[in-house]
Amino acid sequence: MIYLDNSATTFIKPKEVLKAVNDSLMFYSANPGRSGHKASIKTALKIEETREHLASHFNADNGENVIFTHNCTQALNLAILGSAKKNGHVICTENEHNSVLRPLEYLKTQGIIDYTVAFQKNKKGITLDDIKPLVKENTYMVICNHISNVNGALCDIDEIGTYCKENNIIFLVDGAQSCGHLKIDIKKSNIDFLAVAGHKGFYAPQSIGCLIMNDNFKPEPIVFGGTGTNSLELFQPDIFPERLESGTISTPLIFGLNAGLTFVENNFKEISSKIDDLATYLVYELQRLGITCYTEPENAFGVIAFNIGNLDSGEVASILSEKYDICVRGGYQCAPLKHKALGTTNQGVVRVSISYYNTFSEIQRLIYAIKHIAKANGMSV
Ligand code: ALA
Repeated sequence: MIYLDNSATTFIKPKEVLKAVNDSLMFYSANPGRSGHKASIKTALKIEETREHLASHFNADNGENVIFTHNCTQALNLAILGSAKKNGHVICTENEHNSVLRPLEYLKTQGIIDYTVAFQKNKKGITLDDIKPLVKENTYMVICNHISNVNGALCDIDEIGTYCKENNIIFLVDGAQSCGHLKIDIKKSNIDFLAVAGHKGFYAPQSIGCLIMNDNFKPEPIVFGGTGTNSLELFQPDIFPERLESGTISTPLIFGLNAGLTFVENNFKEISSKIDDLATYLVYELQRLGITCYTEPENAFGVIAFNIGNLDSGEVASILSEKYDICVRGGYQCAPLKHKALGTTNQGVVRVSISYYNTFSEIQRLIYAIKHIAKANGMSV
């Protein structure tokens, strides 16, 4: 099988990740931060090590600025719902995933906020020029998807971050597809909240993510409950990360994330250049064949979208799976406005997403399959 659906989740995990998860279950199964006994403390210390590791990777001040969540969706919901301002205004972009659009739409239908969507003027991606004209007096948050999960378009977060800082606007970045692929420094880019997925670019197991916070803004909790601290009090503690982390956290997944992060840090150059080479090669080949490709070669961060003539993208994905043993994602990838912008609301796109474990010959086999499908449907390629 050729697995090219790594934006949904990376399939092959590094052996270091498997070992870390196993070690956690074997030797660190006590609940961290809930009891004072040595088994609990031993686990808690390893969890803190991961927090510090994530903080240093993204240049956050310290581990208290790292909030573990089940996934990137939950991190985005925490930042969006936890920062909602009555009668306020939010700007997001055409590239947003439903994990941003749906909480915004919910807040809007509840009469709490209003929001505006920025559509990109140039082919490459969102820039400050797309955002600035939409800012209103009551704009309190700008949300930018960093790399589109549909076609890999890149947002210029540095310029937008500087503008948000100068105007005291919260800047939230959805790093679902960029974390692990690009180096992100939340201070340099003036990011207030960065939502991170563990199971994609960091090769961790599914259902672990985090919200990385700068020190300027903090969201209110959206989940309340036991934190293992201030247990006699009925109100949520003021200190972080506890304030935003109710309930038992997942030690095995956090260990897996720590190991995946180390793997990516140790092999960063090799990983990025491999993904970049394979993605760029695929985009150029698609363009050469006259296949409709929605990804710019220089924006090919491992995410490539295309269509074969007028064929339904879901049908093409099924043929690739059934006939050629190739796994890709067709349809709409949970990003409705991106499809509106691309003009693909009827057809969707076939999305290929590449990881470090893919090879040149796998991409060649994909190209061979695409040619065959096109020819079988009367197209000349
Ligand atoms: N958001 C993930 C994707 O793009 C699941 O496939």
